Amino acid sequence: MPDEVVACDADWTLESERLELAPMVEDDSDALFALLKDPGIHVFTGGQPPASADEVRAKIRRRESRQSPEGDELWLNWTLRLKDDRTVVGYVQAGVTEGQADMAWVIGGAFQRQGFGSEASRRVLRWLWHHLQLHEVRAKIHPEHIASRRVARSVGLRPTGERTDDGEDVWRATFVAPQ
Ligand SMILES: CC(C)(COP(=O)(O)OP(=O)(O)OC[C@H]1O[C@@H](n2cnc3c(N)ncnc32)[C@H](O)[C@@H]1OP(=O)(O)O)[C@@H](O)C(=O)NCCC(=O)NCCS
Repeated sequence: MPDEVVACDADWTLESERLELAPMVEDDSDALFALLKDPGIHVFTGGQPPASADEVRAKIRRRESRQSPEGDELWLNWTLRLKDDRTVVGYVQAGVTEGQADMAWVIGGAFQRQGFGSEASRRVLRWLWHHLQLHEVRAKIHPEHIASRRVARSVGLRPTGERTDDGEDVWRATFVAPQ
C-alpha cells in the first residue's frame, strides 16, 4: 500500500480545463446510473449495465474505504462533472499498488468525442505521478477499442506488446525520477 494514502485522502479533488474531478461518493449514484445503463458503454469491457441506481450505490459504498478487500490496493475513483453546470459526464479510476497504477476511463455516450476522456485521464495521470511517486501506469484495452487506444496514446501510454488472458492489450507509461 502506498505511503501516501493519508495524504491523498486529504485532498484529491482535481480540476482540468472543463471538468471537476471529485472523489466518487454515493450521491453520484443516480447520475452515474443514467450513464452506465447504456449497454454501449460496456461493449469493450465485457461488463453488464447495472440494473438500478441502488446497485451503483452499493458498489460505491463497497469502495468507500478506497482499499481493495485484501487491503493491498488503493482504489481511487473520480466522478467527472462539467464545471459549467455540474453535469456528470463519466469517471476515471486508478487501482494503485506500490509504485504502479492501473487506470480505466469511462465517458457517457452523449458526452463522447468531445475530448473529455483524454482531458480527465491526463489530469489523473499527472496527479498520480506527482502525488504517489509511481514509476509505472498501465491500462488494459481491447485491441479493437479505437477510442480507448486513442485516449491512452494521447495521455502518453504506449502498447507493450503484452496481452492479458482476457485478450486485452497492455498499455504502459513509465516514469524515471530525475537523478
Ligand atoms: C474510451 C472513452 C472513454 C473515450 O472517451 P471520449 O471522451 O470519447 O474520448 P476523447 O473525446 O478524449 O477522444 C479521444 C480520441 O479518440 C477518438 N474517438 C473517440 N471516440 C471514438 C470512436 N467512437 N471511434 C473512433 N475514434 C474515437 C477521438 O477522436 C480522439 O482522437 P484523437 O486523440 O486522435 O483526437 C469512451 O469511448 C468510453 O467511455 N467508452 C466506453 C467505456 C470504455 O470502454 N472505457 C475504456 C476502458 S479502458
